[in-house]
Amino acid sequence: MNGFVIKGNILYSASMGKINVFPRHFLVCENGLCRGIFAELPDKYKDLPLHDYKDQMIIPGLTDLHIHAPQFGFRGTGMDMELLDWLDHQAFPEEAKYADEDYAKKAYSIFAEALKASATTRAVIFGTRHKAATECLMDLMEDTGLVTYVGKVNMDQNAPEGLREQSAEDSAAQTVEWLEDISGKYRYTRPILTPRFIPSCSRELLEKLKGVRKTYDLPVQSHLSENPEEIELVGKLFPEASFYGDCYDRYDLFGNRPGGKFTGRTVMAHCVYSSDAEAERIRRNDVIVAHCPASNLDLASGIAPIRKYLDMGLRVGLGSDVAGGQTESIFRAMTYAVQASKMYWRLVDQSAKPLTFEEVFYMATVGGGWFFGNVGKFEEGYEFDALILNDERFPHPQELSLHQRLERFAYLGGDMSGIEAKYVAGRKVK
Ligand code: GUN
Ligand code: FE
Repeated sequence: MNGFVIKGNILYSASMGKINVFPRHFLVCENGLCRGIFAELPDKYKDLPLHDYKDQMIIPGLTDLHIHAPQFGFRGTGMDMELLDWLDHQAFPEEAKYADEDYAKKAYSIFAEALKASATTRAVIFGTRHKAATECLMDLMEDTGLVTYVGKVNMDQNAPEGLREQSAEDSAAQTVEWLEDISGKYRYTRPILTPRFIPSCSRELLEKLKGVRKTYDLPVQSHLSENPEEIELVGKLFPEASFYGDCYDRYDLFGNRPGGKFTGRTVMAHCVYSSDAEAERIRRNDVIVAHCPASNLDLASGIAPIRKYLDMGLRVGLGSDVAGGQTESIFRAMTYAVQASKMYWRLVDQSAKPLTFEEVFYMATVGGGWFFGNVGKFEEGYEFDALILNDERFPHPQELSLHQRLERFAYLGGDMSGIEAKYVAGRKVK
């Protein structure tokens, strides 16, 4: 048996809107799984190695449900454009460079180091359409010890020569080759089917990806209803679809229909403008929404109506959407989500109660963790992902509760230097 114990101020969310606090408690890990939180360490765990993190906070790891690895290099630039112009002028020209494996290795090494140092323990990642570069990204992610899904992007139309794949056949064939190449190669790094978004994918390509998903039972990631111009374009390209998400669903790339057999889950980024019918389909097919508030603001896409989705019972997690969002910090995503929801309430819909810190903490841990199985809580049987937070750099004259310290850590950007240690599935990775 392989286990250890850590001690400190433990906080985690068991249900939406509530944070449980355990000052100076013990947290036990055995074989990568959480065995529970204890005020007194039970005798059966007395022989396990113990690390006391003293007054520091221990929280579950954070999940980034949506991030573009090849865009990390230009994050924080070109923030004055909307989505379609930004793709043409920022994202596509940069992504075209990943045909060069040396460039990919250099850029992805920087990305992997940054993600390893961040508060993110699990991530769902877009690569580019290039097979070799995507395999390089997977090798590097494996070395970080984080658990990730990584996708080779599919895009056979509406992109510049050089980045656009030659044909639907070519795109699908490259995807199958990629899946065969990496089959059995990694422990922590998994493939995910990645049609970029509907404007990038011909019907022929979607039909082929449907077959690939069926053969390999893959999870799926893509973008949905992010920007008004984009949605208009989708309407023109796919007049037969009832709404944007229906384009994916027609090709079995949208979660699981009731009674469906896919074990691989689907995450859709953004959903800023999902109609009630689209939101209902998201719920029915058990698709998870990756709410990316930094990107919603930076690309002026709009504010996703997350309160409505929560009221409808949709699954929601958080994404950084680097580089549509400027930062990989999921703590920043949490606080932007609260801020954006307040503006939505003030300016758009006074019946949409702003999100609370407790709710966004749940989304960042348990909400997004669902994509990976039992992840995001410190409960028996959950995978042991934990962050040790050091907030000493924010001294305070008054008493603060642990709950206040956690909120402040998030709002003040404590993760930029305050991640003291990080565990993923019981392994210390930092
Ligand atoms: N839609 C299609 N591609 C992209 C992308 O790279 N970023 C964002 N935010 N939206 C997209
Ligand atoms: Fe994105």
